[in-house]
Amino acid sequence: MATKPKFQAIRGTRDLLPPETALWNHVEETAHSVFGTFGFGEIRPPIFEPTELFARAVGGETDIVSKEMYSIERPLTSIQSFVEGLAVATEIAHKEAYVFLYFKICEEAWSEYRRAGIPNTSNNAELLNEFDKRQVEIRNELYHSQATPRFEVLEAYLRNLILKLELGDPLSLRPEATASVCRAYIEHNMQQLPQPVKLYYIGPMFRRERPQKGRYRQFYQIGAEVLGGSDAPGIDAEVIEMVMAFFYRLGLSGVELHINSIGHNAPDCRPAYVEKLRAALEKVKDNLGEDSQRRIETNPLRVLDSKLEHEQSIIATLPHIADHLCADCVAHYAAVKRQLELRGVFFKEDWRLVRGLDYYMRTTFEITAKGLGSQNAVCGGGRYDGLVELLGGPSTKGIGFAIGEDRLILSLQESGKGATPQGRDVYIAWMGERAYATAVRAAKDLRNAGFTVELPPTELKFGKALERADKLGSRYALILGDNEVSEGSWTLKTLAHGTQQKFTEPDLLEFLRKQKPVSS
Ligand code: HAM
Repeated sequence: MATKPKFQAIRGTRDLLPPETALWNHVEETAHSVFGTFGFGEIRPPIFEPTELFARAVGGETDIVSKEMYSIERPLTSIQSFVEGLAVATEIAHKEAYVFLYFKICEEAWSEYRRAGIPNTSNNAELLNEFDKRQVEIRNELYHSQATPRFEVLEAYLRNLILKLELGDPLSLRPEATASVCRAYIEHNMQQLPQPVKLYYIGPMFRRERPQKGRYRQFYQIGAEVLGGSDAPGIDAEVIEMVMAFFYRLGLSGVELHINSIGHNAPDCRPAYVEKLRAALEKVKDNLGEDSQRRIETNPLRVLDSKLEHEQSIIATLPHIADHLCADCVAHYAAVKRQLELRGVFFKEDWRLVRGLDYYMRTTFEITAKGLGSQNAVCGGGRYDGLVELLGGPSTKGIGFAIGEDRLILSLQESGKGATPQGRDVYIAWMGERAYATAVRAAKDLRNAGFTVELPPTELKFGKALERADKLGSRYALILGDNEVSEGSWTLKTLAHGTQQKFTEPDLLEFLRKQKPVSS
């Protein structure tokens, strides 16, 4: 049995390799092109942000924030380990160790400060200067004073200084990008731009979920957000129309759009429904599983998300949100549906579609596709008016979606739309030093003309070269020996049927240019 390599990709992460990456590129290029036609521009926010941003936006109680984020809580681990050492030196009253560790703590803290590992605030600069000043005093106290050194007092003093250092915000790898886009909208005063602002992003997200088919810990999203002053139902419908147009352009099969409205946070709307739901759930509590029982308290709406077989018939008896929305939300939802019909977008209403992030209100939607098993949601989104305000910005309406790119690719592959291995247009089988120089030049010319060319770096026997050309899926082999070069007559072999033609250099390039490159 082959031994496992020492280093492997971390569970839930994976390498995307050729030829599959060609399909990823095709999907992303299609997104740039389709989203561009709807007037969206690309934003590339950073991959990590303050943990607080996600806690506020997505919700501190959601699974995504409370269980699944990759966070860096304290950046000062090297200093911390010296401080622990100091405690040992204190206990055994070891002067030299004590002075050495004190020195190391000062040095580490300064170096963290210089590379902005801890924030460059005046408070931190003062504390570090204090460290330096005390260095001499501590040395004197330990070595020159007649009294017994007061190690405990010194240690308490030092710990206190370190505790006062401002360590900076805890950071997290982004589990989603809506929060970042809203943060950027505020930070760059985008409310000054013509509204609404339409942005899209493509990139990796991170969630510590249990990995399975279609669920990874590093996964990719293609998302879009519309931010501005209006919540016109036409915006909701156009955003959905755009995703559907994108899926249609890719030829994704079995696409189904599910929509719902979850109302808004006013006493006569969602909160009243949530109370009714909670009361109904209390009555059937004993027949529910552990998770749902807990959610009756924390977030009853999430019970509707349950996939547990035995809970389905119970959930079917619960009150529907549509019957408890306020008049404005009812009107908005009806208008969104009309706007979708106007655009010829088919949808199914799903009263249980509540989504797992706290920022949603009114329109929510999910899109499923074929071949994905239990993780069949290929896109999720909804309206989130008020999120920008919650993050400290002006009153702003918002709606958007994110497509799970990994799942989109899986679904395309399952329906036979995977990438085919990239072949070569021309394999240059060269023999001899002079032929090599010509081969290098020919490769350059052909590549400039858009052809995929393989030029072996070392000389190969003719048979071997043809064998390689075949394995790489080459269309032609260009045969260049010293004789061909001196005669100025090059041989081009069509590998599929083994026929050969002779050309002069300009004729050959001309002949090939008339062919279609494999990559086109
Ligand atoms: P979400 O439903 O959490 O929404 O994620 C959107 C999509 O990302 C899912 O439908 C799924 O296709 C994909 N996805 C989520 N988690 C994983 C995973 N662990 N592995 C593979 N794919 C995954 C959001 O993220 C919202 N920010 C969407 C949004 C944008 N709403 C408004 N604007």
